[in-house]
Amino acid sequence: MTLFILLLVGAYLLGSISFAVLLSHLRRLPDPRSLGSGNPGASNMLRLGRRPLALATLLGDLGKGALAAGLGQLAGLDDILAAWLGLAAVVGHMLPVFHRWRGGKGVATAAGVLLVVSWPSAIFCLGFWLLLFAWQRIASLASICACLALLPWLAWMAPELFMPLGLMSLLILLRHQLNMRRLLRGVENHFRR
Ligand code: G3P
Repeated sequence: MTLFILLLVGAYLLGSISFAVLLSHLRRLPDPRSLGSGNPGASNMLRLGRRPLALATLLGDLGKGALAAGLGQLAGLDDILAAWLGLAAVVGHMLPVFHRWRGGKGVATAAGVLLVVSWPSAIFCLGFWLLLFAWQRIASLASICACLALLPWLAWMAPELFMPLGLMSLLILLRHQLNMRRLLRGVENHFRR
């Protein structure tokens, strides 16, 4: 139990490292939280024309989710407990202690968690995300739909992971409230074809 709590705190701290903010700071670029959609994530970095940093942000955010869950597995925890550690990393990404609690939406970090605890779910969500994005060119719409699709998928394919991963999905949906409002008003950011 003590080990699990220590790992939970570690996963939260790991998730609190915002690669978009850190990399922008290192390159002496403005904080992505004050530009574009205001989201410190790969899609906003891409939107701001910071291509290499967008890729590094994607890999960093994905990697920290995977690492949080993977360390749990290495410590001998089962996939369910590892998924709770992944959730802690996603919460860290959303409310980072290192960046004045102003974090991102957790999509890439969640993808890293899925890859480690349930790779078929990761493939399913990635496929869903890519299809939606290729069709509409709206990152938030793709993320929202992938999160919604994950719920029935988990209930059917991995019910034992439904609690931590379903909660993760709901938190990500909550973080997309502004995107949902922009989508409903028809003014959400598109990526050009
Ligand atoms: O992965 C984040 C995405 O779902 C939304 O990002 O920058 O378009 O608000 P953004």
